[in-house]
Amino acid sequence: MPPSAMPEVRASIVLRRNWTGAYTVPATGLYPHQWSWDSAFISIGLRHLSPRRAQRELDSLLSGQWADGRIPQIVYDTRRDDDYAPSAEFWRSADQAGSPPVPTTGLIQPPIHAWAVWLVHTQDPQESERRRFLERAYPRLVAWHRYLRTRRAADTGLATIVHPWESGTDNSPLWDEALAEVPATPQSPLERPDLRHAAASERPSGREYGKYFWLAERYRDHACDDADVDHPFVVEDPTTNALWARSEIALADIAETLGKDGAPHRAEAGRITTAMDMLWCPDFGAYGARDRRTGDVIEKATVGGLLPLLLPADVLGESRAATLVATLQGERFLSIAGIRPPVMAPSYDATAPDLDPGLYWRGPAWFNMTWLLHAGLREHGAPDVMQSGLDEAVDIALAEDFPEYVNPWTGAGHGTRQFSWTAALILDLLRQRAS
Ligand code: SER
Repeated sequence: MPPSAMPEVRASIVLRRNWTGAYTVPATGLYPHQWSWDSAFISIGLRHLSPRRAQRELDSLLSGQWADGRIPQIVYDTRRDDDYAPSAEFWRSADQAGSPPVPTTGLIQPPIHAWAVWLVHTQDPQESERRRFLERAYPRLVAWHRYLRTRRAADTGLATIVHPWESGTDNSPLWDEALAEVPATPQSPLERPDLRHAAASERPSGREYGKYFWLAERYRDHACDDADVDHPFVVEDPTTNALWARSEIALADIAETLGKDGAPHRAEAGRITTAMDMLWCPDFGAYGARDRRTGDVIEKATVGGLLPLLLPADVLGESRAATLVATLQGERFLSIAGIRPPVMAPSYDATAPDLDPGLYWRGPAWFNMTWLLHAGLREHGAPDVMQSGLDEAVDIALAEDFPEYVNPWTGAGHGTRQFSWTAALILDLLRQRAS
């Protein structure tokens, strides 16, 4: 038995436990439905256990696609409707034009799906071809990216998010200013079943939740229509746009495998990357966000602002890539002056006075971001930058029972445990190490 076998078995037990028969819940207690970008990350690990199950995971998510192309943030399991808020009943998606037959939210999450589909396909191309996986997924993914371009990108060419939940990095400091004027007084009762599964000090605050519910109600009550010009939160997010560009490259690979023209997708990846120049913050050498309503760039260094590293040098430019690698290695992320450097990159600028190493997206390190950064470093021929950190990340995941996120300095686990994408991506990293 190879030395990595036991960790792999432990990761696969988590994924088996959280598997529902058609998809994997992120965590049985805290997140009891199917989440969009979680499922994409989970499929990247699942492909090593069963390419067929990984395909099923993504097929299941894609069955929740709306007529306008959006892939929803959550596809609900109505048997668990009391266990998570906002619930399917809150969203009443069946009342919205163009909603799918299954209950979902109206919001979206970062578009990593085409890349996940491609990675699942390459794991076993014969099985994929036999089951016509790419033929099924491609038109849906094209419609998804068309939604981003036509309904979200408007004049600047960058996709906007209309709710912090859409970023996947809910309480990131990037959203603080844009949320300042949003009322914290929703009409629906503010339920917090999440606090049954994670400490309040590790979750967004009651005030933040009030704003989240208020914004979700507003979007729902305006027919989930992105043409609502008065929507009070419209922001260009670096994570969403970097993953969109990376997924366009994957879409080109998928198109070419199907005998179609990949060039328009590659051109689109270039176009999005160029548009992202608007978010570039030369003072700290990473991408910020931008408030579409005010035009202000939100100059805060977050791990999402490093994700354009996922784009190849001929798209991103060699000097931009070198700057991002230097920023990752610098004092804001991996080498803090005077104190023990973090083992994994924090989600937020380590020099920021308001960093909190245990509070969700305001400082802790996350395994999906670690996996993405590693992929970006490999893309740019610098895989050694995080190698020792990666080994530690694997050890921490095992020691802490696959935590949702960790203190970047101590490795102490936070949030829920037996978290699916942690298990899936650790499995993928172990396989990368073995190959
Ligand atoms: N991350 C959100 C939550 O904490 C949902 O996407 O519930």
